[in-house]
Amino acid sequence: MSHNNRPIGVFDSGIGGLTVLRELFRILPEESTVYLGDTARVPYGSKSGDTVVRYSLEVAEFLVKQGIKLFVIACNTASAYALQELKKRLKIPVIGVIEPGAKAAIEATRTKRIGIIGTEGTIKSNSYINAINAIRDRKIEGIMEHGEKSLDRYFEIRSDDFVIFTKACPLFVSLAEEGWTANDVALLTARYYLKGLKKENPDTLVLGCTHYPVLKNIISKVMGPDVRLIDSAIETAKMVKGILEEGNMEKESDEKPSREFYVTDSPERFVKVGERFLEQKIEHIEKIDIGGN
Ligand code: DGL
Repeated sequence: MSHNNRPIGVFDSGIGGLTVLRELFRILPEESTVYLGDTARVPYGSKSGDTVVRYSLEVAEFLVKQGIKLFVIACNTASAYALQELKKRLKIPVIGVIEPGAKAAIEATRTKRIGIIGTEGTIKSNSYINAINAIRDRKIEGIMEHGEKSLDRYFEIRSDDFVIFTKACPLFVSLAEEGWTANDVALLTARYYLKGLKKENPDTLVLGCTHYPVLKNIISKVMGPDVRLIDSAIETAKMVKGILEEGNMEKESDEKPSREFYVTDSPERFVKVGERFLEQKIEHIEKIDIGGN
């Protein structure tokens, strides 16, 4: 393939994927992008796999029509459930956030004790575990549930010499959107959610949800300075760069890159919260209709 000036498509259930877009801007500042946040149907994290796949296919159809050269699923939940189906159906490269995060976790861990946090859907799907095992050619050997109440519940998943602890932290999404990332409520919530995982002494923790990088400081404060946090957003942007270079698909023209945004609900809230996530202005935003509920 020759050089390619078409935009990169980035898809998320809403605002959170802007953490991935922000890293793409940093790592690939010359590339044009089209971002779609399915704000009318967010959250995906508490929906069934079938629904998430259906939504993702509708979003992909819209973005492919915009002439994108590569499709980034910035949403962890959509990556967990729809990556395979999207790879099968689209004729362009499709990248999810799970594999890059899984790879980085394997590289980072010394003690082979890894924590993974995400939405209920991502945790239920075991997709980070499957990705970590697939890279290492291993299988799940045992799953144990810990904790009594749902707030305390976390899972211990063993395969060979690796032990992985997973925990759904759904309230982190609301905290991040509210901008409560450094106050007492955020700290208390993080302490509650991470209590079990911390006790297990992982040396690496994967932030398996678009919103969690915004809460990095609080999460690190709770887990302690020795726990390495893996930001899937950064790892995914690096992978996108690698794929563009390998396929000779980088933008070549000197024209200023375009940054387009689409949402499925009214843009006001997206712009307000999104500019904080993105750390820059959002212009060129449009509301679109892509499907039912
Ligand atoms: N984007 C979702 C994820 O990364 C979080 C928000 C949602 O539940 O839709 O899993």
